[in-house]
Amino acid sequence: MNESTVSAKSPVDCEPARSMLEGPPGLIGARNLLRFATDQLTFLRDLTDRYGDIVEIKLLGRPWFLVNHPDDIETVFVKHARVMGRDDYASVLERALGLGLLTSEGELWKRQRKLMSQAFVPKRIQSYADTMSQVTEAAIKGWTHGQQINLHQEMSRITMEVVAEVLFGAGVGATDGETVRSAMEVINEFFANSPEAIAKLPPWVPTLRNLRMKRAVAQIDELIFRVIARRRAGEQRDDLLGTLLTAEDESGARMSDKQLRDEAVTLFLAGHETTALALAHTLFLLSKHPDVERKLQAELAQVLGGRTPGANDVKALPYTECVLKESMRLFPPAWTTGREALEDVNVGGRHIPKGAQILLSQWVVHRDPRWFPNPEGFDPERWRDGRSDALPRYAYFPFGGGPRVCIGNHFAMMEATLILAVVAQRWRIDLLPGQVLELKPSVTLRQKGAGLRVRLRERSGVQPPENPRLRKQP
Ligand code: HEM
Repeated sequence: MNESTVSAKSPVDCEPARSMLEGPPGLIGARNLLRFATDQLTFLRDLTDRYGDIVEIKLLGRPWFLVNHPDDIETVFVKHARVMGRDDYASVLERALGLGLLTSEGELWKRQRKLMSQAFVPKRIQSYADTMSQVTEAAIKGWTHGQQINLHQEMSRITMEVVAEVLFGAGVGATDGETVRSAMEVINEFFANSPEAIAKLPPWVPTLRNLRMKRAVAQIDELIFRVIARRRAGEQRDDLLGTLLTAEDESGARMSDKQLRDEAVTLFLAGHETTALALAHTLFLLSKHPDVERKLQAELAQVLGGRTPGANDVKALPYTECVLKESMRLFPPAWTTGREALEDVNVGGRHIPKGAQILLSQWVVHRDPRWFPNPEGFDPERWRDGRSDALPRYAYFPFGGGPRVCIGNHFAMMEATLILAVVAQRWRIDLLPGQVLELKPSVTLRQKGAGLRVRLRERSGVQPPENPRLRKQP
């Protein structure tokens, strides 16, 4: 159980510390590394079952702390935010993202967070809703009854098109769209699967993946700098990039081209893969739970009756939101969030030394029976009618927390609700026989191998709109 009623004594609560080792044995941690590398999901949950709310692990001689109690997670995210740095992996992400919001720290991050927030105020987010729905309608227009699709790939295609349209509007044509898609796939794969990323192999080592990655980043750069140059030359568009181009800090300064590029790539990458996974897992769960599916259909029929949803419909679809929340409880797209302690800190009565890596795992905490009875069950009802109000604040944190909470949180929830509403209204998704969900945790919680294959079944009586807006050409 938690022992973490932390009493603030110094800015970082350095004392008192318990010296007792509470974690698996091993000074070097080679065996831990092996288990961590082969089955991270089971390993983290086993550690939690055995050692409780704070687990110390040695990984190749370095201390790691797995923090599992919501109060202690809050301590890391909020109370100690000032002395928590990005985790080790940020340097790998920097290869594609540069120093955008996800990878930057300190004063640069602070300035950028303020500037970027201007594109994520509720009014701006609402203004993206019609684009999100219409791009989805257009993206699934080619689906046919009985067709087999790869669920993750298709959801990725849809969310990528949505982010591209919201970010650049009509600034990206069909050919550029294809370039972005294939380059982003290379980048996603690099972060998700490559030994180069896991081993943090320097980019100058000429492996095939390093070279492919370099080429993909160069393609994206060429496109984004071209779009920025057009905008600077006077092209006006009311899209997210337009907001970022004119955003000013307190001194009236705007972002440089390089900073805009880093933020645009960050939003592109952070914004499509996570939402695609949330949707793919939701559709998988719906295919396995016809009772939930029926309730979802009833809500969609009552509120939308076949029409394309807009911003005002989102609030009227509470069950749809509960389905998504429950899906992200079971399969959080961001399944861990990491921090590095920049100073010695005390968390839940445990001393965490400067330089230690801290792991907060949505995967572990979202399945803790103290907060979620029947944790393996898919039960959207647990989010209904205030039933989750009594949960500790950080028992559920798919979007992280504290000052670095996902800036796209509300954007993502609206986007996922709209895409799910459009897709589920028109199509039933049936798992193909023999398809089993196997998870592969990397930066995000993906599906193993080629991903799940499903068959599309058209719903009778729900017609797509006559002229869904197709992607505009420049
Ligand atoms: C279901 C979808 C999403 C999930 C589960 C998710 C999850 C997260 C999490 C857990 C973090 C915190 C990482 C940390 O603290 O280390 C984060 C940060 C971030 N997310 Fe998301 N995200 C989603 C969608 C989006 C979207 C749609 C966008 C943009 C359009 C976005 C942009 C970002 C950015 C820029 C950050 C860095 C924020 C900062 O450090 O200030 N995310 N996201």
